[in-house]
Amino acid sequence: MSKGEIVMGALAPHPPHLVYAENPPQNEATAEGGWEELRWGYERLRDSLSEKDYDVIIIHTPHWATFVGTHFLGVEKFKSLSVDPIFPNIFRYNYDLTVDVELSKAIHDSAAEEGLLVKMMENPDFRIDYGTITSGHLVNPKWDKPIVCISSNRSKFYFNSELMQANMIKLGKATRRAVEASGKKALLLSSNSLSHRHFTTEPEIPEDMSKEHITNHNQYLWDMKMINLMKEGKTKELIDLMPDFTEQTVAETEAGCLTWLMSALDFPDYKATVHAYGTVIGTGNAIIGWDPKKAKI
Ligand SMILES: [Fe+2]
Repeated sequence: MSKGEIVMGALAPHPPHLVYAENPPQNEATAEGGWEELRWGYERLRDSLSEKDYDVIIIHTPHWATFVGTHFLGVEKFKSLSVDPIFPNIFRYNYDLTVDVELSKAIHDSAAEEGLLVKMMENPDFRIDYGTITSGHLVNPKWDKPIVCISSNRSKFYFNSELMQANMIKLGKATRRAVEASGKKALLLSSNSLSHRHFTTEPEIPEDMSKEHITNHNQYLWDMKMINLMKEGKTKELIDLMPDFTEQTVAETEAGCLTWLMSALDFPDYKATVHAYGTVIGTGNAIIGWDPKKAKI
């Protein structure tokens, strides 16, 4: 068996508004468009993946929050309706997805070897979180690849950001080791926004783009600081700044997804490709790809 590899890693945020604005057949709500910059960014990310051969998509999601350890989906098929708890008016999505249980279990076992507390989630009636569904849809709308879904252990909340990061660095390393041993080619997604202060009222028309902008200038400056570090390949500095960034912008990096991704990619020192930056209800969202092939040039 040949050695498996991570063919690409991506920051792939999951505002349900982006799925709503695309009007896919799976979603019950209909929109007049909106958030084009981000949706076109996802188009560019999909284009960059079109020439890549990969077997599986591994998603680390903030909206499957687990307080005792890190959990992994352990059932092959899930089919149901996902209704966003905050935005039921825009996201009622019929999902039908397949899990690569073998790889899921392999990452679970590899994470246990790192000393992490882990668990396979084997309830066939489990409801898949909308972070997984939204990022999964926007990257691969055909859903023709199996996924591995990893929960976000909320160690930041019961301890602190530093402990969360230490655990996510172990989880990233464990993920890379399991992928390489599996012989499979994997795409990794960090399903999160950057700055995450958001508006508390919704316009009458959710896709009214005259109402969309960053919540405040401080958030914008922090988002640019972090994105520029990614562009410059300074991902260790990015990890060092993550606790302050997360604290000051209430960033969704609190869930550990981005730290996991950086570790799984072995802290890229090559340039990330920024496909888009834009806001959704005032939060900062970037679509960014890391192609490990660039490390070899
Ligand atoms: Fe979210």
